[in-house]
Amino acid sequence: MESFSFGNFSIFASGTGTNALALIEKAKELSLVPEFVLVNKKESPLLKIVPEMGIPCFFIESKIKGVDSEFEAKAKNLCEEYDVEWLFLAGFLKILSFDFVKGFEIRDGVSRILNIHPSLLPKYPGLGGYKKAWTNGDETFGHSIHLVTPDLDSGPTLFQKSYDRKNYNSFDHFLETCKREENDSYKKVFQNLVENGLSFEHGHFYLKGTTNE
Ligand code: GRF
Repeated sequence: MESFSFGNFSIFASGTGTNALALIEKAKELSLVPEFVLVNKKESPLLKIVPEMGIPCFFIESKIKGVDSEFEAKAKNLCEEYDVEWLFLAGFLKILSFDFVKGFEIRDGVSRILNIHPSLLPKYPGLGGYKKAWTNGDETFGHSIHLVTPDLDSGPTLFQKSYDRKNYNSFDHFLETCKREENDSYKKVFQNLVENGLSFEHGHFYLKGTTNE
């Protein structure tokens, strides 16, 4: 069994930022702080909230579609400057290139980058996971936290949480609670990674003591 220990970390985000803030809150409880938060959308409330917490927060604009090499070069420089070892994507709506992910590689293309995704992967990679599951009438749907590889939303899953459709009377009803659930899951995974590191055994990455819910 191999173990990869936790270290300096950073968060990349684009949107409302609830997952980024959940990670920051959990980190604080564990006496940790991200090296910086990187935001690629100027509308994100994180650009105001994060500096108020005394945490460096950078805005680097990026192209809407595809890989943006100019954005990535700047992001990579920041990661090097701050010696970032672990990266958390928290609603970061930007595809990262093969080369960028490779820079964080642990083995076989799997990186020290984590992402939270709104579907039970491998179902519904890409955007709109919850909506797709709801529209397709899936009885069960949920979110996944996974390690990032150069292929979109397809790296090894560390944790998944499922919900039963029958507990919700509408999609909006489901949307009311799903972010809170995501935030709790990301916090749990973060704490486990900090305390136990990432384990690798028999070709499989996992977090000790973590079971899907
Ligand atoms: C979440 O639903 C996450 O699963 C997806 O993007 C959304 C980000 O939400 N990747 P927030 O910005 O963290 O509130």
